[in-house]
Amino acid sequence: MRMWRTPAALAGAVTLGLAGLGLAVANEGRGPAAVDSARMAAQEKDGTDWLHDGRTYSAQRYSPLTQIDAGNVSKLGIAWYDDLDTFRGVEATPIYADGVLYNILPWNITIAYDARTGKRLWTYDPKVPREYGRYACCEPVSRGLAMWKGKIIIATLDGRLIALDAATGKPVWTTQTFDHDMPYSITGAPRVFDGKVVVGQSGGDLGVRGFVGAWDAETGKKLWKFFLAPNPTGKPDGEASDSIMPMVEKTWSDGMWKQLGGGANPWDSIGYDPALNMVYVGTGNGSPLAWHHRSGGKGDNLFICSIVALDATSGKYKWHYQMVPQEDWDYTCTQSIITADLRIKGKTRQVLMQAPKNGFFYVLDRRTGQFISAEKIAPVNWASGIDPKTGRPNINPAAHFGTDPVLVMPSPGGAHNWFPMAYSPRTKLAYLPTYEWGMVYALDPDFKPKPFRSNGGWGGYTGDALKKRAALQAEANKSEKAFLTAWDPVAQKAVWKVPLPRHGNGGVMVTASDLVFEGTTKQTFAAFDARNGKVLWEMPVQSAPVGGAITYMLDGVQYVAVNAGWGGGAAQIERGAGTELPRAAARLLVFKVGGNLQLPPIKPEEKAPEPPRSSASEATIARGAVLYAQTCQVCHGQQAMGGVKDLRKMTAETHGKFNDIVLKGLYAEKGMANFSDLLKPDEVEAIHAYLIARAQEDWGQKSDGTGPH
Ligand code: HEC
Repeated sequence: MRMWRTPAALAGAVTLGLAGLGLAVANEGRGPAAVDSARMAAQEKDGTDWLHDGRTYSAQRYSPLTQIDAGNVSKLGIAWYDDLDTFRGVEATPIYADGVLYNILPWNITIAYDARTGKRLWTYDPKVPREYGRYACCEPVSRGLAMWKGKIIIATLDGRLIALDAATGKPVWTTQTFDHDMPYSITGAPRVFDGKVVVGQSGGDLGVRGFVGAWDAETGKKLWKFFLAPNPTGKPDGEASDSIMPMVEKTWSDGMWKQLGGGANPWDSIGYDPALNMVYVGTGNGSPLAWHHRSGGKGDNLFICSIVALDATSGKYKWHYQMVPQEDWDYTCTQSIITADLRIKGKTRQVLMQAPKNGFFYVLDRRTGQFISAEKIAPVNWASGIDPKTGRPNINPAAHFGTDPVLVMPSPGGAHNWFPMAYSPRTKLAYLPTYEWGMVYALDPDFKPKPFRSNGGWGGYTGDALKKRAALQAEANKSEKAFLTAWDPVAQKAVWKVPLPRHGNGGVMVTASDLVFEGTTKQTFAAFDARNGKVLWEMPVQSAPVGGAITYMLDGVQYVAVNAGWGGGAAQIERGAGTELPRAAARLLVFKVGGNLQLPPIKPEEKAPEPPRSSASEATIARGAVLYAQTCQVCHGQQAMGGVKDLRKMTAETHGKFNDIVLKGLYAEKGMANFSDLLKPDEVEAIHAYLIARAQEDWGQKSDGTGPH
C-alpha cells in the first residue's frame, strides 16, 4: 500500500491511505489530479490522460493514442458502465488523470470513478436549488469540469465555483460568480488556464448582462471580470472591460436592452493560447433576442455573437471579431473554439477555428483577430457571404424580419450547436455534427420585456400571418437534415458527410489512428474512418450520447468513455416535433477492445392515462396556449409534447394537484419551480385547460409521443 499526500491546499499536509478508497494507481506519488502547466504541455504528445475539457489547451479533442485502430475497433465493447439515474441530458465531457475518471451530471452532481473498474470513489452533490432549473433554457445540464493541482473544479447552475479535493470530493473553496438579481445560470464547463479558472454564464434568453471572469484556482479569489455588453447606467464598472466600453456603447441604440441587460453571455466555449497568454471568449445572443426590440434595429451591438480575445493575466481587451453584427436570430458564437497552426497560402498561420450557430465555418488569425476565411457549412440565407476584406457578413436585409413572417436559415438550433467539434492535425480536417434547418421569424409588435421570463420578442401574430408562418415552416421542415461533417478549414469545404437521422448528434473526438468517435441520434455510439467517413464500428447504447467522448490509457489498455444521456436543447426540439424514442436512463459508458458487458433491456414506458374532461371555452384554451408557450414550453416542449415531463400524460392525481404544483412549489425538489411570481390562479387554470385540450387531441395514437411533426 502506497501512502499519498493530499493537496497542500487541504488542512496542512495530512497523509491519507487512498488505497482504502479503492484507488491504486501509479503516478509517481504526486497524488490525484496533480495537473500543472508542465503536465498540460506534456499532454500535447502524450495521450495517457485527458486533463482538460478539450484535452489540451488547443481543445482539438485529438488524442495521440493509437492502440484502438481500424483493425480492432470492430471488437470494441463495454468494459464498465454506471447508471446515472436521470433522464436529463448528460452533456459533459468527462476528464481523466492517473487512473481516476471525473464526471459531472445534471444539477452538477460530481462523481470520481476508479477508471479500471467503474467503482465510485466519491460523489459530491452541491445541492443546487431545484428552482434554478427555471433559468436554464435547455435543462440543468453541465458540459464539463476541470482539474488543477489536486483539485476538481466545478461550476454550478446557480453560479458557484467549487474546488473539490480530488482525493476525497470535499470542498476546498467555494466562490459565487454572480449576483442573483438577474436570471443568470451556468451550464458551461469551467476551464483552468495556468492556475486561473475562467468561466462565463447563460441567461441571454431571459435577460441578463453577459460577462466572463477569472478566479484563482488555489483560493477562489477573483482575478478579473470583463462585461460583454454595455452598462445600462452608462457608468464604469470598475472592471477590466471599462477601457473598451466607450467603443462598445457606440454600437447600441435605444431599446429594451436597458431593462434586460443586453445578453452576449459566454455560455460554453472559452479558448486559450499559453504562448500568447490570451483567452478567447465565445459570446452568445442578445437580450431580448429581436434586434428591433433590443436596440431599435440600430447598431452592431458588441459583443453579441463574437469572439473576444483578452489578456489572460489582466482580463484586458486585445481584439474582437463579431461573426453576427445586428444579431436577430438567436445565433450564438459560444460553440467550440479550436486553436491550430495551419498552412495557408504557403505560410504557417496561428489560427482559431469556430463553426458557430450561424452556418459559417470561420478561420481567424488568433494573434490579431484578423479574418482569414469563412464558408457555409449548411444552407444559410441571413447572409450571402463574408466580405474577405472587412470580414463583415453581407447581411440579407430581408432576414431582418418585421411583423410579416420570414423563413431564415439556419434556425436558432444552429447549423452547429454546443456539441464539441474536433480537429485532427494528421488529416487536417475538423469534425463536427451539422444540422440543416430553418425557422420562421416574425416580430411581436406588442412585446413587453419581462425579466426572469423568456424574452424573445418574436411571434404573437394571428390570422393570415399565422397561416403564412405554418406554410413556410412546413416548407423548412421538408428539407431538414443532419450530418457528421468532415471539414477542410484551409480549402473551406466539406470532404465527407455522413447523414444522420435527426438533430442532436453528439460531440466528436478523433484519434491518431484516424478514428472519429461520435454518439448518434440512432441511439448508437460509433467510430468512423477519419479520412472518408466509413462506419467502422457502431453499437446501440439505448440513448443518444450527446456529450464529447474521451480516451485514456491505463495499465497498457486504451479506454474510450462517453456519457449516453439524451436531453438538452436538441432533445427539446426533437420531442417538440414528436420524436421520442424509447430509451434507458443516462449512463456513463466505458469501452475497450474485447469489452463484453451487456446493457440490461430498456423498461417499457407506461401507457398514458386517459385525460379528464374539461368544459373550458375556446377562448380560455387559446389564452392558456399563449401562456403555456411563454412560461412552460422551454421545459415541457412545444405544444406540450415531450420535454422534461409530458404534460399530456398527467395522472388523475396530478391533475388534482395541478394548481399546487404550479403555484405552491409542490414539486420544487424535482426541479418544477413555483410560478406564483409570474402567474395568477386564473392564468394557471387557462394553462391547465389548454393541456387537457392537448391531451384530448392526442390521446390514443399520438399520446405515445409519436405525434405529428
Ligand atoms: C425550468 C423547467 C420547467 C418549467 C419552465 C416548467 N416546468 Fe413543470 N416541471 C419541470 C420539472 C423538472 C418537473 C418534474 C419532472 C419529473 O417528475 O421528473 C415538472 C413537473 C411538472 C408537473 C407535474 C407533472 C407530472 O405528471 O408529474 C406539472 C403539472 C408541471 N410541471 C406544470 C408546469 C407548468 C404549468 C409550467 C408553466 C407554468 C411548467 N410546469 C413550467 C420543469 C419545468
